Amino acid sequence: MKKIAFFDTKPYDRVWFERLNAELSEPFELVWYESRLRPETACLAEGADAVCAFVNDDISASVVNLLADYGISILAMRCAGFSNVDLDAACGKLTVVRVPAYSPDSIAEHAAALMLAVDRRIHRAYARTRDYNFNIAGLEGTVLRGKCAGIVGMGRIGVQFAKLCQAFGMRVLAYDPYPTAMDGVNFVPLAELLSQSDVISLHCPLTKETYHLIDAAALQTVKRGALLINTSRGALVDSNALIDALNDGTLRGAGLDVYEEEGDIFYEDLSDTVDRDEQLSILVAKPNVLLTAHQAFLTEEALESIAATTLKSLTAFFHGEHTDCEVCAADRKRSI
Ligand code: NAI
Repeated sequence: MKKIAFFDTKPYDRVWFERLNAELSEPFELVWYESRLRPETACLAEGADAVCAFVNDDISASVVNLLADYGISILAMRCAGFSNVDLDAACGKLTVVRVPAYSPDSIAEHAAALMLAVDRRIHRAYARTRDYNFNIAGLEGTVLRGKCAGIVGMGRIGVQFAKLCQAFGMRVLAYDPYPTAMDGVNFVPLAELLSQSDVISLHCPLTKETYHLIDAAALQTVKRGALLINTSRGALVDSNALIDALNDGTLRGAGLDVYEEEGDIFYEDLSDTVDRDEQLSILVAKPNVLLTAHQAFLTEEALESIAATTLKSLTAFFHGEHTDCEVCAADRKRSI
């Protein structure tokens, strides 16, 4: 029986993998580690045939080399992104597979939830009413119907988010260097999108070109009072510039599911720590910021799809078959 070592696991990861693995004609032995994969923990994978990792694991060259030394031939990322994998180091040593699209609706709906909650101050209302405070002053929102949504990156998730915005009666602008026509969506240059949109939502990948796409210069051009929603990758936004824009009213609010330095922070209970990330502490303390910890993917449907695709890729690999989920050289050029 082939053995898979899972890193950075939480109880919700195990449910669907165990259920679907039990249904396979050739099931795997699943070994669960809560530790993140990093040079110090890679030794846990010794004796396994495959490693399954997640968004904040460190799969740099030293980890790739250790895994290869332990005889591991495949790394299965149970996520879409792979910016944390050194693909150059992996080339010729480890096959890398991922789950390219497991549930675009999950992320699009979470982006919509952040948009609505930040706009209508739902997070503040929740905190107040739990404290038996029923004062509604300061919770003023806006009507989305007739407003303009600007979507950066019209791939699988951006398209679904556009449909949700259209359902709210919003006008939709989009920016994508590789545009694909969609009814009712007007593709415009990024500068035009930023200057016209009441809500800006990021759905492009993190690449060398998109690193700090939303920086101080970009924020100077946004429509005053816009909302910024980021469910894509934290480093698309310069956090210092974001804080300044929230401070001076350039942005009316931000809904964030990702943060550029989230790696050692998200998915952990750090409520007892005193030495905290300064920028993150500033952001979460702001009344007009709603931050979730990279949970946009976290739906029943997505978890089932992630487990099904990952097990299918691993089964195909160990039968010597090709899988569409393999990360190829072209992907390496696009991602950082
Ligand atoms: P996708 O590959 O289907 O679409 C990405 C789109 O971005 C493409 O249309 C591409 O042409 C466009 N793009 C590339 N460079 C761009 C640029 N410089 N400016 C604007 N657009 C650009 O990807 P998908 O599935 O829609 O995912 C988008 C992103 O969502 C992923 O890269 C990932 O970072 C993030 N994500 C976040 C999750 C979460 O739980 N928060 C879960 C899954 C994905």
